[in-house]
Amino acid sequence: MTLEERMRRWLLRDLLVTPRGRAYVLHLAAEAKSAGERRLFDVLLEQVKDAALAKAIADHRRDEARHRAIFAACAARQGAKLPEIPPSLRLVDAIDRHVAAARHLPGDRPGFLDAPIRDARQVMEASLFLQVLEERAVDELRVLATALRPFDPRSAGLVREVEADERRHLRHCSALALRYAPTAFALEATLAELRHAEAVAYREHTQLTLEFLTAEGFIGSRAMTLFWRGVGTAAPLAELPLTQDGRAAQARADAPRAA
Ligand SMILES: [Fe+2]
Repeated sequence: MTLEERMRRWLLRDLLVTPRGRAYVLHLAAEAKSAGERRLFDVLLEQVKDAALAKAIADHRRDEARHRAIFAACAARQGAKLPEIPPSLRLVDAIDRHVAAARHLPGDRPGFLDAPIRDARQVMEASLFLQVLEERAVDELRVLATALRPFDPRSAGLVREVEADERRHLRHCSALALRYAPTAFALEATLAELRHAEAVAYREHTQLTLEFLTAEGFIGSRAMTLFWRGVGTAAPLAELPLTQDGRAAQARADAPRAA
């Protein structure tokens, strides 16, 4: 486990101790998949003619709506009132912006989520975008399920069930990307690019979240608040927070060079 992962787990535990902190984390899980992602499923369904793959996309879309309802109910059960959470804390939108910036997409809101999907390569790209979201979801939900168990075992059990669904989605996104990839190289290069953009966005999102949490008094003592502010300031210096799958792929790519 990297130092950054350890720090994230400490922060999560700090939050989960209080009903308000649990409500915040579960609310964020409910909001994790944005309207933009739902639109992506719709656009993919217009392009994908293979019956089995189309069914998997429709099932995935339905699962995400169900997950949202599950997490929203878990958040409400904590019985805590949350402050308004600014749109700048929407992780999917931040990833979208970073991918767009990396690809120099034009337009007023040059988001990847708004880009048209008209050919096989774009289906592959959209599938890989969904895949990197799922990779992060799997990592986060696994940690959340374990950390939440002592405080709210019922919600922890539901988080575990959602995590299992997300692992299934991961396989489906990967199969869809493979089916539409023009070449194996294009698939690998795009996946590496999206994982990098996602990790940069995730790091930025962590800093914004820390600022929000300390400003809103989610983190208990003054000493802890100062500590987390320090972590937030140090975050840009830390290693890029790739997901487990992202780190494994990077290690494979680096292996021939190291040999
Ligand atoms: Fe999913």
